[in-house]
Amino acid sequence: MMADHISGIRACVFDAYGTLFDYAAAAAACRDVLGEKMDRLNAIWREKQLQYTWLRAIQGRHVEFWQVTGDALDFALETLGIDNVAIRNRLMDLYLTLNAFPEVPDMLKRLKAAGLKTAILSNGSPKMLAAAVANSGIGDFLDAVFSVEEVGVYKPHPKVYQLAVDRLDIPPRAICFQSSNAWDAYAAAAFGMRVVWCNRYGQRPERLPGTPDRQVRSLAELPALIGVD
Ligand code: 2OP
Repeated sequence: MMADHISGIRACVFDAYGTLFDYAAAAAACRDVLGEKMDRLNAIWREKQLQYTWLRAIQGRHVEFWQVTGDALDFALETLGIDNVAIRNRLMDLYLTLNAFPEVPDMLKRLKAAGLKTAILSNGSPKMLAAAVANSGIGDFLDAVFSVEEVGVYKPHPKVYQLAVDRLDIPPRAICFQSSNAWDAYAAAAFGMRVVWCNRYGQRPERLPGTPDRQVRSLAELPALIGVD
């Protein structure tokens, strides 16, 4: 029988892109110039960005997420036959000016009011994450921002989740990790964290190690899920 809530949580740790920050809505701002190609561009760009992080992690050839994001965008633009530096620069800048999803600020405030630690754990480079946090105005509700640059390898390598444990000095079972990326949520569960999969994009369950504790469509549900309100 599933317990009422996930108990014993002292920190909530969040993935950034797609979980706290709405990169898709930001890219949609370029629909005026890209028209119906915007959705395909967004899909190819995101998928290639993640593929490059996984491939570089396996090869041990790490470069910062800004480089990987630009390489993936170049692949996507070429795939769609779009050769336009102004559009490329505008799309890259969007990653520095992302908004948070609407429910995020209030959710973080409620967690802080209940005495929990809050942090970001992301593939994003420190520069990218600092810009996104500043632009979205959620910095006052975050205790820490952890970038994989501190360990030199991308998610889902266990070293990344260990970084949050070490820097917060909180054991995995007392950390509740949230991600909209199924592969990230499953990996954090396999690592030993409690996990709420914020399945914003209607992804199917993965056949991978680890099982998220709960699945939600919005982070507004998180405080009640961990017994905080
Ligand atoms: C992250 O922020 C890429 O969404 C992933 O780590």
